Amino acid sequence: MFGEGPQNAVVMLVGEQPGDAEDRAGRPFVGPAGRLLDHCLGKAGIDRAKTYVTNVVKHFKWVPRGTRRIHSKPGTAEIQACFPWLEAEISVVKPQIVVALGATAAQALFGKAFRVTQDRGRFVPFALAPHALATVHPSALLRAPDEETRRREILRFIEDLRQVAAVLP
Ligand code: URA
Repeated sequence: MFGEGPQNAVVMLVGEQPGDAEDRAGRPFVGPAGRLLDHCLGKAGIDRAKTYVTNVVKHFKWVPRGTRRIHSKPGTAEIQACFPWLEAEISVVKPQIVVALGATAAQALFGKAFRVTQDRGRFVPFALAPHALATVHPSALLRAPDEETRRREILRFIEDLRQVAAVLP
């Protein structure tokens, strides 16, 4: 599944891989993580409709559990195999700002040594766009162990997205 958004988008958001809902819909970030992403983008003053939203890995990797399809983390081979498509999306859209959501996207784009926990929310040098930054994946917010942690982490995520909003033309 490819990304979605205007061809002249200023911001490109890059996730890990489509989830179950995305695989069924054929569109990125339309499930629970996508709804939270939309909410947080709005709070940060970013209109999702003006962004290009995509994933590092283009297919949903899953394992069966009963009737459910459970997310399975993509491996290096899948990330490398899909990378030319992401590069092609970047070279066509030419975003001013690339935002990696979570460690898979951050490490695929910025290198294996990148640590989202340490390096989130600040701009990093990136050869394919003038500005680039990583933050956590919205799914991680949904997995927070309790309400208080989730609320705090959502606010941190919105703060990271505000860094992006601050450099919008
Ligand atoms: N998680 C992702 O990384 N991408 C999606 O499109 C949906 C959930």
